[in-house]
Amino acid sequence: MAVTFTPIDPEGADRDELVAFMTSQTFPFHVRTSPTAEQISDAIAAGAYRDDDNASFWIDHAEHGRVGFFRFEDLSEDTPLFDLRLAEQWRGRGLGGEILAAATERVFTTMPEVRRFEGQTREDNVAMRRVFVRAGWVQEAYYREGWPVEGGEPVASVAYSVLRRDWESGTVTPVVWDAASA
Ligand SMILES: CC(C)(COP(=O)(O)OP(=O)(O)OC[C@H]1O[C@@H](n2cnc3c(N)ncnc32)[C@H](O)[C@@H]1OP(=O)(O)O)[C@@H](O)C(=O)NCCC(=O)NCCS
Repeated sequence: MAVTFTPIDPEGADRDELVAFMTSQTFPFHVRTSPTAEQISDAIAAGAYRDDDNASFWIDHAEHGRVGFFRFEDLSEDTPLFDLRLAEQWRGRGLGGEILAAATERVFTTMPEVRRFEGQTREDNVAMRRVFVRAGWVQEAYYREGWPVEGGEPVASVAYSVLRRDWESGTVTPVVWDAASA
């Protein structure tokens, strides 16, 4: 696989690079679209990048070099979540699916107790929603007005997941939505 996850030491060697990455890019589909250095420093101090729940990595690509940031979240829970942020110059080049597939493989090969891996995105983050589908994830929920937007109306939050058994067998099991009325 062309993708390597390189551990980030947020309070040590990687601190400056992490602050620079987060403050030099815009993230139009995140709640905080243009984080400030102070906000990132506060998040580092609060353990948001590395603690019992969070583990952050640079995404290093065999051909392209460092293309972005990946954080595994909720690691002390049964179901981890994630945050994926490509650098602006690497967005829209077809890398997301491969990266999410690599992250999925990492979860299921290194966390034997984990049965499902989850993610959420805004309804209008079409690229991310396509990436979920490409990586074999399944949409499970659509939370209407569930995503706050600064200075605007809330949009929906869409939830996806992948099951270990689907990952192992290479299948994609759809959600049966009408089971109650069947
Ligand atoms: C969201 C993100 C991870 C997607 O990865 P990516 O490598 O840029 O996505 P891709 O280039 O593989 O595009 C995926 C699909 O979306 C389509 N697409 C890409 N940008 C699009 C856009 N702005 N509008 C509509 N479709 C778009 C592509 O054509 C592709 O379609 P296909 O699967 O039919 O071929 C990346 O753009 C990113 O890091 N964005 C900023 C941070 C972010 O929003 N992260 C998500 C947090 S959950």
